[in-house]
Amino acid sequence: MLTKPLEQTYYIIDFDSTFTKVEALDVLGEISLTGRPDRDNLLNQIKIITDRGMSGEISFTDSLNLRLDILKAHKSQLPALIEILMGKISDSFQRNKQFLSENAATIYIVSNGFKEFIIPIVTSLGVLAENVFANTFEYDEAGAIIGFDKKNPLSANGGKSQVIRNLKLDGEVYVIGDGYTDYEIKASGLANRFYAFTENVLRPRVVEKADHVAPSLDEFLYHNNLSRSQSYPKSRIKVLLLENVHPIAIQLFEEEGFNVEIRKGALDEEELIEAIRDVSILGIRSKTMLTARVLEHANKLMTVGAFCIGTNQIDLDACTEKGIAVFNAPYSNTRSVVELAIGEIIMLIRGVVPKSNLMHKGEWDKSAKNSFEVRGKKLGLVGYGNIGTQLSVVAEALGMEVYFYDVVDKLALGNARKCKSLDELLAVADIISMHTDGRKENKNLISYREFGLMKNGIIFLNLSRGHIVDISALVDAIERGKVAGVGIDVFPQEPKTNNEEFMSALRGQPNVILTPHIGGSTEEAQANIGSFVPGKLLEYINNGSTYGSVNFPELQLPLLKGSHRLLHIHDNVPGILAKMNTIFAKYHINIHGQYLKTNEKIGYVITDVVKEYADEVVEELKDIDNTIKFRLLY
Ligand SMILES: NC(=O)c1ccc[n+]([C@@H]2O[C@H](COP(=O)([O-])OP(=O)(O)OC[C@H]3O[C@@H](n4cnc5c(N)ncnc54)[C@H](O)[C@@H]3O)[C@@H](O)[C@H]2O)c1
Repeated sequence: MLTKPLEQTYYIIDFDSTFTKVEALDVLGEISLTGRPDRDNLLNQIKIITDRGMSGEISFTDSLNLRLDILKAHKSQLPALIEILMGKISDSFQRNKQFLSENAATIYIVSNGFKEFIIPIVTSLGVLAENVFANTFEYDEAGAIIGFDKKNPLSANGGKSQVIRNLKLDGEVYVIGDGYTDYEIKASGLANRFYAFTENVLRPRVVEKADHVAPSLDEFLYHNNLSRSQSYPKSRIKVLLLENVHPIAIQLFEEEGFNVEIRKGALDEEELIEAIRDVSILGIRSKTMLTARVLEHANKLMTVGAFCIGTNQIDLDACTEKGIAVFNAPYSNTRSVVELAIGEIIMLIRGVVPKSNLMHKGEWDKSAKNSFEVRGKKLGLVGYGNIGTQLSVVAEALGMEVYFYDVVDKLALGNARKCKSLDELLAVADIISMHTDGRKENKNLISYREFGLMKNGIIFLNLSRGHIVDISALVDAIERGKVAGVGIDVFPQEPKTNNEEFMSALRGQPNVILTPHIGGSTEEAQANIGSFVPGKLLEYINNGSTYGSVNFPELQLPLLKGSHRLLHIHDNVPGILAKMNTIFAKYHINIHGQYLKTNEKIGYVITDVVKEYADEVVEELKDIDNTIKFRLLY
């Protein structure tokens, strides 16, 4: 039986802004026009002419003539140009050197640029010099570039199509390029498909004509089922951002080249199960419940960002068991809390709230009695963590004397004084502000006894956690006149929604400022969260670092350079590292660096290895018992 031979596929690839990130003549201009006072203006003119030529507004020959005229370049400037272009090869071409060299016989670089700089660049990735079709410069006797070889079809309009016609390629022809002249090959009936390459530049007029858009060479290879660099093309990484996360986050992920989907509100369990299937990175705020059931359908999920402080809405154990790293933004609103505390201290020590209330009733009570400056007053901070320390610095700037007490031995900032015990602090301070964490031992940390130890007329604030202050003791202290002013932002029982009534014995008490847990709620804090969380997620995706993760062992890793990084997440059982190293030894793999950290549930091993190794290594590492997830970074 006669079988039809498999058809050969030929790849026609453009050079400027496709193989390299830049237009070579723009770069040549930057070199040749150095020292000219009108350099910027001329460079801009060159760019405009390039764009007009590439999008088909003016003929190619005109665009080339005009540019060379402005450039006034010289042969001696070409080595510098080549050196710069070497560093500007498109990322996805660099990643896929293997594809270029293995298919060298059927890859053609067809460009309206110049062989003098194209050949050294493309041959460095395995393309054959004889498969480069481009123009050549003409020089005068002194080496000045004065024009180009007019006999070369590529120096004229429609030149690319002419070259392909002459090649008489027998098989499928795919064209990859960013310009209109690349599309023209397909338009002339000489190619089967035109891929608009948009990794470096996106020309709407060209994209409009394309059969497919290729945001990278990986995408082109993926589309054609061709072997590609194993590193995952970023545009295939899907990010799902819910609950109106700050636009900065969207921008940061898009700049990384990820495919970002945004939904305004939270999703319920069923909706999230549907939406999460192909998602690699999920960003939520406090209303999206990430349950174990949802996670069962999250087969691609690598990491979750909580764009808020708390992570109660996330089933952290289930995430850990699935090898999903969770990050949040614990400190992004520190400054906001500090500013509210300072504002309240001043309002309370001046009795502004009762005075304002009287004014609203029409009463004018002008008096200096019991109104004080904060300058020179003793501020006692209970808890000297992120917020406590920052408040310490700002309060000192206002002339307050800062005293602090922390269960952990903390370094005093500025002139702050450390107290040996809570009792010592309570006795010395004129104003007391609570900034401890919410651990359960801190329940009723401040109760009747503690109020008894305080000075009469104390100003008392709690903007940390509701349960650390015994509210009945506080109300008692207010009614006895022990406490002169109170600022409370957090409560043992808080309404779950804005529709629920706020119930508290503090309601109606004089000189008491009550706020609905908004210490950290500012636009700036939201923006900080919007950039902080993506930073953490990207560090994890791109580098493997888990520093700041709420459920993963924390590892801060050096940037990946000159090696491959293997990330192995496994149940925390003995012997995994030994098994991994046995595999490395078996295949004689040279390890550049290895890092291991465990928590009570999982182990996280990062191994940086030399670039060349057999594919079986990866398979064997994945097959180690108790492996939860395996990832490879290039
Ligand atoms: N009101 C708001 O909107 C809002 C916003 C952000 C943070 N917070 C709360 O503010 C508090 C402080 O936040 P942070 O970022 O500074 O936390 P942090 O963890 O950096 O600091 C807490 C400090 O309290 C200390 N501490 C714990 N128990 C103590 C005790 N019994 N006595 C003395 N020191 C004790 C810890 O050692 C630690 O240094 C937290 O409870 C946080 O939940 C509230």
